[in-house]
Amino acid sequence: MSTLEAEPFWLRGPFAPVADEVTAHDLPVLGELPRELTGTYLRNGPNPKDSPSRHWWFGDGMVHGVHLEGGKARWYRNRYVRTARFHGTNLGPADGEDASAARARRLRGGGTSNTHVIEHAGRILSMVEAALPMQLDRELSTVGVFDFDGAVDTPMTAHPKRCPLTGELHFFGYQPIRPYLTYYIADAAGRVITKREIELDGASLMHDFAITRHHALFFDSPARMTRDWGDGMPFTWSDTHRTRIGVVPRAGGAVRWFDFEPGYLSHTANAFERDDGTIVLTGARCARFEVSPPFLYHWEIDLASGRTREGAIDERVVDFPRTDDRRTGQPHRYTYVVELCDFVGGTPTSARLRRYDAATGTSVAQDLGPQNVPGECVFAPRSADPSEDAGFLLSIVYDGARDGSDLVVLDAKNFGAAPLARVRLPQRVPFGFHGSWVPAAHAPS
Ligand SMILES: [Fe+2]
Repeated sequence: MSTLEAEPFWLRGPFAPVADEVTAHDLPVLGELPRELTGTYLRNGPNPKDSPSRHWWFGDGMVHGVHLEGGKARWYRNRYVRTARFHGTNLGPADGEDASAARARRLRGGGTSNTHVIEHAGRILSMVEAALPMQLDRELSTVGVFDFDGAVDTPMTAHPKRCPLTGELHFFGYQPIRPYLTYYIADAAGRVITKREIELDGASLMHDFAITRHHALFFDSPARMTRDWGDGMPFTWSDTHRTRIGVVPRAGGAVRWFDFEPGYLSHTANAFERDDGTIVLTGARCARFEVSPPFLYHWEIDLASGRTREGAIDERVVDFPRTDDRRTGQPHRYTYVVELCDFVGGTPTSARLRRYDAATGTSVAQDLGPQNVPGECVFAPRSADPSEDAGFLLSIVYDGARDGSDLVVLDAKNFGAAPLARVRLPQRVPFGFHGSWVPAAHAPS
């Protein structure tokens, strides 16, 4: 076996890290970029800097950005997130030092900061669930750790939710010491207005969560966090720990827990409350963490009767569900996913995008062609028109034929049709995790 074949999947082929931080202007475009798309598409992912990472999740964060303006692709940049780990800083603990001091330093070091990147209150935040977020400027240079003016002293999830009705950013932190779970709400200006401990008897892996108009939903699974982040995955599957969803009133009040079949929520698509008060959560679910593949799934909770329902929506292997973020916490129609079709040696060699339509119960595929493997797609609204299909979908697509990557733009009204445009990027973008569309009006000045 060659050295190449001996390397784990996340260090080779389309996953392999890129060596250079590149700035390129006026990128070639195949097709026609919509002139309404003015802003920056950002995407985070692991890009191990100095030494091989021990898990796909553990590489140093690198944010890739493509700025679109008036039908042109103005620039591409990729930048490492300058965490303490990036700089090689030893975070201790020093001899005789209290462990909590070293822990606080680790949180402020930003961890790997490799999972997601969002904009809130004019700040671009790069995030990983093991640490505090790192703030970036509009050109993706690292400003430093962001702790919401000292209000957040736990790790922060990489999957916060912005409520489109209030502008609030809802998020949480979980950790293997008390408080095991903390729920935060920051207002539209980025000030933390709620910080609440959710009582648990220990931590479980909580990669994602959900909000509805009146509630936050926490998914407690048998993937128990048995130690802190460090070498390897700190989770152990417990056959005795229940799978349950905690329903937490956003405005305060008692938490209610509801039991479900054993499973793990990989990623939330969305959640909402029906008119009768029933809570519906849709997301990618694995029957068992790191063992079973994810499928699109729904969980329902009738708060009045306490009755629950659950079930798979489809039998296809899918993950990275996204919706129009303007529907977060409200009924939505469309869910966009990456459908994983084929693997060779752990590497997805065939994948396509798929859109599920909750109104018709059908789905449609977007097959980008042979050897074209898309990542998560992000919805970008066309205008103030609130229709869920009035906009575009953006995804970085790897083209194996030329070992390069494009930013592909789809018309949401014609999801299965040929892309409107492909922006040819100046280098391959390794398969990564999550991204955001930041309209120009929201970018930091
Ligand atoms: Fe994620």
